[in-house]
Amino acid sequence: MYARYFKLDPTEKEIAMNWSKWLRQFHRWLSVIFTATVIANFVALAQTGGAMPSPWITYSPLLPLALLALTGLYMFVLPYATKWRSGRRIAVMQ
Ligand code: HEM
Repeated sequence: MYARYFKLDPTEKEIAMNWSKWLRQFHRWLSVIFTATVIANFVALAQTGGAMPSPWITYSPLLPLALLALTGLYMFVLPYATKWRSGRRIAVMQ
């Protein structure tokens, strides 16, 4: 009875939507972190006069970029996966 007022029983679709919303926000913040690490590389290069700075700075964009690629590819296939899943559900109902 109270479930109508307090969302105690989220549907499968709501859980999936919350998850993709969270991933999109994660991707957005990762892009900010990634951009900061790229800028840090240019700053470090200017300070060393072009010589290679600490490998920690040089390779720091790689982790956020890898996570961006994973979350981005997930977001890319999401509409196709949703279509495929809803198609499969109709096929099961027939
Ligand atoms: C590395 C591989 C990457 C892939 C495969 C990827 C893929 C995607 C996809 C599919 C979307 C959703 C587009 C839509 O609305 O339908 C997206 C959104 C976005 N991407 Fe990426 N991306 C990648 C890297 C990056 C990088 C390097 C940046 C910036 C530094 C970036 C910044 C963003 C931003 C700001 C959004 C909008 C997020 C929002 O809706 O708030 N992405 N990306």
